[in-house]
Amino acid sequence: MCPARYLYLTAVPDQNGDLIRLETAALVGAIPNSLGIAISEKCVDVSRGAYVKMCIDIIFEAEHISEIVSQIKNMQLHMDGFRVSVAKRPRKLKADTKSIAHQVGAVIGGNPNLDQPSVVFLVLVTKTKIYFGKVSSESDGKWYQHTKRPHSTSSSLPTRLARTVVNLTAAPGDCILDPCCGTGTILIEAALMDIKVFGCDNNYKMVEAARRNLAHYNLQGEINLADATKVSGQFDAVITNLPYGITLIASRAQEREIMQNTRHLAPKTTFVAIRDLTADLLDLGYRIRQRINAKKHTITRQIFVTETD
Ligand SMILES: C[S@@+](CC[C@H](N)C(=O)[O-])C[C@H]1O[C@@H](n2cnc3c(N)ncnc32)[C@H](O)[C@@H]1O
Repeated sequence: MCPARYLYLTAVPDQNGDLIRLETAALVGAIPNSLGIAISEKCVDVSRGAYVKMCIDIIFEAEHISEIVSQIKNMQLHMDGFRVSVAKRPRKLKADTKSIAHQVGAVIGGNPNLDQPSVVFLVLVTKTKIYFGKVSSESDGKWYQHTKRPHSTSSSLPTRLARTVVNLTAAPGDCILDPCCGTGTILIEAALMDIKVFGCDNNYKMVEAARRNLAHYNLQGEINLADATKVSGQFDAVITNLPYGITLIASRAQEREIMQNTRHLAPKTTFVAIRDLTADLLDLGYRIRQRINAKKHTITRQIFVTETD
């Protein structure tokens, strides 16, 4: 018997392709192709995906829709409350999605429910292959709602990037620290994934803003006024967006002091910065597992996923 195969639909790799590829690899253990399709034998709940959007349990794959239709007929697929959705990759591909949904829906036994389906079947049409399967999980897309959180500043991290760096570094059940938490963007995304979150900032206004943001979403977390160069504790991971600009940090030396201190707080640390930290990180004894550039508008942020002994 063939092992089950799962198809993951991700955002289509663009200028932030590395983020998309690495998040997919971290969550599902496979790399998406240029169409944003990754295939794996692992079934993973992708509700926490920032770029990974959907997991589909593949039932059939074929070159023509007629083959899919006859295979569904042969297996006498029966399901009450189903809906058939059709996706295309690339999106500009010419295909009559309505007609495909109709043909496939007509051979599934049971009553459809288009508005509140209990099961969604997906037909994915590509140039060379058509996949038919059952959607087993979808990204909850919550990062998008958080773009409208009560408090943010011009130096706040984009919420999708915050969710991605959490996915690259930690997993549900972990305990993380953001020692320069600002308004708490990283903490919100992590707390929503059942990660225990601790944060601190040396600016009381930021501590208050982060606390209010977490409370707004009914999330738990401990946020204190503290200096990241001195904060202590043991965590599964540290994830932080280092301060930058003259209003946020006194000097490069202080930034290095923060990195020196976090070195002892967790075996994994992910830094987001607007400069190349490679020399400092290696000098301080970090191993750089991944380095990624993330561009948004005019800012290119650099992400360093690191490990220590
Ligand atoms: C780039 S911002 C973080 C933004 C945050 N990720 C967000 O989305 O709102 C850096 C934060 O580091 C804080 N900071 C600067 N020096 C610090 C220090 N020595 N200890 C703790 N926090 C510090 C600043 O007050 C600022 O809120």
